[in-house]
Amino acid sequence: MTDKPRRLLLVSACALVDADGRVLIAQRPEGKQLAGLWEFPGGKVEQGETPEECLVRELREELGIETQIPCLAPLTFASHTYDDFHLLMPLYVCRRFTGTPQPREAQALKWVRPRQMRDYPMPPADAPLIPFLIDLL
Ligand code: C5P
Repeated sequence: MTDKPRRLLLVSACALVDADGRVLIAQRPEGKQLAGLWEFPGGKVEQGETPEECLVRELREELGIETQIPCLAPLTFASHTYDDFHLLMPLYVCRRFTGTPQPREAQALKWVRPRQMRDYPMPPADAPLIPFLIDLL
């Protein structure tokens, strides 16, 4: 079997956890790749940015909430080969943020218990992260 070379894509993702131990998931909107699937909020790490800086920016842009780098605890990471790139995606846990998450990019949002997450179809990179959250929460 031959394997074609793929570019590496670094995406930072976050499990936002509320006071009841529920986690926020967001549905990828129409027009995006993997539309309709539920994912952890986050996005692509830009040139010169750390994964933590990326998350602070993405949480502000996508959800309108504020957090700080010391509030982001690394939990694990996803590593998944898609057709045209290989995705590396650290997953952070964040329990301290200000503001109420709002769907700033037309995405549906849901607070779910980690065990309920299996009922929401997720991208293949995200789904293997669920057991880590079940163990943690
Ligand atoms: O969100 P964005 O479209 O910028 O992400 C780029 C690609 O990374 C997506 O098309 C998807 O394949 C992958 N991705 C993922 N899980 C996420 C975020 C992105 O698999 N939580």
